[in-house]
Amino acid sequence: MFSTFGKNVFLAVVEDITTDLDLLHPDELLLGERFNSTKRCEDFFRGRIAARRALSVAGCQASFPLLIGESGEPLWPETIAGSISHSSAVAVAAVASKCHMPLLGIDLQTIITIERAVKLLGRIASDSERAWVNADPVNVGLRSTAIFSLKEAAYKMLFPGVTEEEHLRFSDIEIHFEGEHPRFARLERTLAARAEDCYLEGFLSRGAVFPVNLEQRDSLLLSAMWIDNVRVTLAR
Ligand SMILES: CC(C)(COP(=O)(O)OP(=O)(O)OC[C@H]1O[C@@H](n2cnc3c(N)ncnc32)[C@H](O)[C@@H]1OP(=O)(O)O)[C@@H](O)C(=O)NCCC(=O)NCCS
Repeated sequence: MFSTFGKNVFLAVVEDITTDLDLLHPDELLLGERFNSTKRCEDFFRGRIAARRALSVAGCQASFPLLIGESGEPLWPETIAGSISHSSAVAVAAVASKCHMPLLGIDLQTIITIERAVKLLGRIASDSERAWVNADPVNVGLRSTAIFSLKEAAYKMLFPGVTEEEHLRFSDIEIHFEGEHPRFARLERTLAARAEDCYLEGFLSRGAVFPVNLEQRDSLLLSAMWIDNVRVTLAR
């Protein structure tokens, strides 16, 4: 369905949970059952099944549970970078070895209507991002969703790498486009890296740019953002 990253990143998509519930760790089943809504529980299970499938394709046989961190983040094994997203009864998970890709984030969104887009843009987009959206009046919903989704992917990517005091704002990430495609995301404010990830500091300075990708399947848009291995290997 989606193929958003290149080699070294393993992506899994899950729609039907009924056949694969037995992939889940008992602690993950317990966590899911604690949610108040059935939808949230199913989303959680779909996401964890996708994560387990992606880990398995990556050669990581996860006998441990993927628990939930204090801010809702999935707690991946030490050597793994990963991200989970769900929308419209579809979940996607992406994982990579941290030595190839120390940070990655994905976000799956259902494309919004023009009416919702207008409200959303005022909250999340810069002047130049708004100009890119308005340059294609037929696709205002699609382009607004793209900006929102890429910024959500940025949030998920950056969260594990920055200190707890950092609160990322939509204005901290600027998406740059070429024609109809996103080219890269640029950090508009210097962020403090966590002590254990201090080699990331150079990548979290104002002006740092990150590769991005967008993929559309019917009414779903998958965004991805990552810090790649080559630049990090040079910095280590
Ligand atoms: C956390 C957040 C990104 C989740 O996004 P969403 O579109 O609501 O939901 P998605 O389905 O795409 O993603 C949910 C998954 O994100 C993951 N997640 C939750 N919190 C996370 C965090 N702090 N860091 C990384 N991943 C996180 C979880 O895996 C979750 O699924 P799960 O609970 O089933 O494990 C969103 O709610 C949020 O808080 N966004 C920040 C808003 C903001 O300030 N953005 C500025 C961007 S520059």
